[in-house]
Amino acid sequence: MRFMFRSLIVAAAALAAAGPALADGEVNVYSHRHYDTDRALYDRFAERTGITVNVLQGSADELIGRLSREGAASPADVLMTVDAGRLVRAQAMGLLRPAASDALRANVPAHLRDPGGHWYGLTRRARVIVYHPERVSPAELSTYADLTQPRWEGRILIRSSSNIYNQSLLASIIAHEGEAAAAAWAAGVVANMARTPQGNDRDQMKAVVAGEGDLAIVNTYYVGRLLNSGDEYEREVGAQVRVFFPNQEDRGTHVNVSGAGVTASAKNHDNAVKLLEFLTGAEAQERFSAANYEYPVNPAVSPSPLLQSWGAFAADDLPLNRLGELNADAVRIFDRAGWR
Ligand SMILES: [Fe+2]
Repeated sequence: MRFMFRSLIVAAAALAAAGPALADGEVNVYSHRHYDTDRALYDRFAERTGITVNVLQGSADELIGRLSREGAASPADVLMTVDAGRLVRAQAMGLLRPAASDALRANVPAHLRDPGGHWYGLTRRARVIVYHPERVSPAELSTYADLTQPRWEGRILIRSSSNIYNQSLLASIIAHEGEAAAAAWAAGVVANMARTPQGNDRDQMKAVVAGEGDLAIVNTYYVGRLLNSGDEYEREVGAQVRVFFPNQEDRGTHVNVSGAGVTASAKNHDNAVKLLEFLTGAEAQERFSAANYEYPVNPAVSPSPLLQSWGAFAADDLPLNRLGELNADAVRIFDRAGWR
């Protein structure tokens, strides 16, 4: 998820070259979504509407910084991130403008969008437990909180606390259980880690299969990406792990969204709203699910067969703007817990 400097320069040059011709038939997207499948969707949108999608890819922090520096002169019409927290931050900085659309309100349930319309979820991603079935029985698993029990000592794999997915998971624990419980959870997981956090979500699953630990906390779509990898070892790793949805007896599994908002500086406002409507509509939602293994936000669209094979699950319906509001508290708690 690192900022892709080369592609940013190339895309920035393309945007600059496009210059004044941007007024009609185009929409300019600053995106942190890092998936090949998105390009196919933009091409489909262009086919359907005649509106070309120009994409500048980078990390959310870089893109938000860029939007802020560019101000009203920014060519960006849409900001797209892989976490609600960063959208909330962009909104707080005044970088997003409310987009009102009956289609968007129908496509995206209320808890998966900003109440004021500054941003909308595009896809849902569940942060689940994956485990090795020869070393863990699903009957032993229950909640995120249970992972602090002494029987998990030396068995848990999870990435660094600098990662926004973990920050949002902890923010959800703060929202539901309070700061003291969240601090105890972070300290308890640190005490049970199989190793100092390193690598991404896929690396945690590889370490489970390699026997470094017995379970990992990861986003569901990475299981799908392993299963469909071009690399034989990755497919093997994906086939060996099992998915468990925590907290099914109470608040539900923590869910975040990748999402997008129309920028305050948008010159192609109507095209931007059309793009968001397209991305939350049935065709795009099916494709996000089938090709990138993400859950639809649109309740009228079913998850792909692979996702259905993991089972239906109850999702935490905490309003996602809370994740952004509690992000700084989560970072502070992680630091105090010594979670690298
Ligand atoms: Fe990701």
